[in-house]
Amino acid sequence: APVPPPDFSTCSTASLPDGSQVPFSCCPPLPKDLTNIPTYKLPNVSKVKIRPAAHNVTQEYITKYNTAIQKMKSLDKDDPLSFIQQANIHCAYCNSGYKELGFPGVPLQVHFSWLFFPFHRWYLYFFERILGSLIGDDTFALPFWNYDSQVGMQFPSLYNDVNSSLYDPNRNQNHFPPNVIDLGFTTIDLDASDQQKINNNLTMMYRQMLTNAPCPQLFFGNPIRGGEQPIRGMGTIENVPHNSVHRWVGNPNNKFRENMGTFYSAARDPIFYAHHANVDRMWTIWKTLGGNRRDFNDRDWLDSAFLFYDENRTLVKVTVQDCINNEKLGYKYENVPIPWKNYKP
Ligand code: C2O
Repeated sequence: APVPPPDFSTCSTASLPDGSQVPFSCCPPLPKDLTNIPTYKLPNVSKVKIRPAAHNVTQEYITKYNTAIQKMKSLDKDDPLSFIQQANIHCAYCNSGYKELGFPGVPLQVHFSWLFFPFHRWYLYFFERILGSLIGDDTFALPFWNYDSQVGMQFPSLYNDVNSSLYDPNRNQNHFPPNVIDLGFTTIDLDASDQQKINNNLTMMYRQMLTNAPCPQLFFGNPIRGGEQPIRGMGTIENVPHNSVHRWVGNPNNKFRENMGTFYSAARDPIFYAHHANVDRMWTIWKTLGGNRRDFNDRDWLDSAFLFYDENRTLVKVTVQDCINNEKLGYKYENVPIPWKNYKP
């Protein structure tokens, strides 16, 4: 059976990695009627938006993006469109705040399985539409952090201005430019030259996208079906670079490397959405790499469902099936060079 959407009516306090409880509620505001949640209808796409590489954006774009996040941050904290409620989506879906609808003993978890890519795609999709609606610009598209290319291997400067709504003080202060990212970062900084780090990163990308991901299960992660206990096994990209980039950004002086270093707080850092845009971009690129690199055709994957508030504050149900083609969702990625394609170890 497919994984059902979360049971909003039993949302409870989420738990931290050490088993203790998150000291606040990550549960969303509830709609008036939980029994009739409409299935989301994809709007017609008149023009496909382009998500730009973060290092390439114009000052005009930065201003617009900054304004959008600022508006989101100034909404009432109980408004499902507010920045904190948007960040709490990640907490509720990832720290056992929800049970699967119809399986009261099964916590819903969108990591460590084939739900990882589709869940985060939908999450960014609505986040992006909300930002667009707050600034009255439905062409607005999130940037992606192009860390898989040498030109994007530093912390993107637009997030690093203390006066910007895109800034977050809870980051690793040693990892600001010109520090070069380590896409395999665990907790210790590599003792290597910038050029060595760049070569390692490109080699790792080749390995995670090509050598180790020749088929859907290795790329997306292991199947999880309705009623099964979570944590089935990650896909290649979820592990590296996805998890490593979270750890590399998070503040090592905080207990769980908050914000980016742990699920409940990760999405409070605006860089989260640029990180995940690049992870999402890897899904689109992977499908062009040939061989058996394609989406699953398993009904249990395609029919698995999530709930989100759309930009009109309507709670809607979405399925994996409806997100596998990003252009139907109305966006694609700026076409930039993909240097790791030639980094066969
Ligand atoms: Cu839901 Cu980057 O994790």
